[in-house]
Amino acid sequence: MSRKRVAILISGRGSNMTALIEAAKAKDYPAEIVLVLSNRPDAAGLAVARAAGIATVVIDHTSYGKDRAGFERAMQAVLERERVELICLAGFMRLLTPWFVGQWPARMINIHPALLPAFKGLDTHQRALDAGVKIHGATVHFVVPEMDSGPIVAQGAVAVHDEDSAETLAARVLKVEHHIYPLALKLVAEGRVHVDNDRCRIMGVRPPERAFIVPDTPD
Ligand code: GRF
Repeated sequence: MSRKRVAILISGRGSNMTALIEAAKAKDYPAEIVLVLSNRPDAAGLAVARAAGIATVVIDHTSYGKDRAGFERAMQAVLERERVELICLAGFMRLLTPWFVGQWPARMINIHPALLPAFKGLDTHQRALDAGVKIHGATVHFVVPEMDSGPIVAQGAVAVHDEDSAETLAARVLKVEHHIYPLALKLVAEGRVHVDNDRCRIMGVRPPERAFIVPDTPD
């Protein structure tokens, strides 16, 4: 089996990146992380990636000013040079243009800290608390030009507790993120995910392997 060559794009601490790197250490994991690319030179995840022996590249978006196309062309050149086959966005805080997204059809996935299509955008945990939802979670989805949209690959759910702050809820959801992202990448890298009418159909695995529900714990 040839493992898919994966780049992870980050902007910050990179805990999801770390979860993917850890998962890819398994011999039977169908993807290898060949590159971590950050748009911020100070992203904490860069040191973690380097310590794991993974090549890192910084393409600082600020040095491109308003030239978003130039920034993306630079990223694309590096990704092509490294013969990347799949991209994982992991806390990558730049909006991507339709041109860049179009280079990676059904080959780029993102993790979002909410049960899409609820709570697209930022501050998802506070907005979930404000809305009073009892179940919250995270979603891995294919990237399409519209932000936080695109066919859903996997989701994980947690209970919302009455005492939760945005921070405690974020921590509970983050554990789920670290579980579902490696799972989703595995399914995509194995070629099991077929997009049909904007829905993902997962071939050959049973439902528990594409969703994750954390049982409620007593308060
Ligand atoms: C995560 O909550 C992820 O869902 C969101 O940005 C955050 C990144 O965290 N897209 P980390 O850098 O992976 O720790």
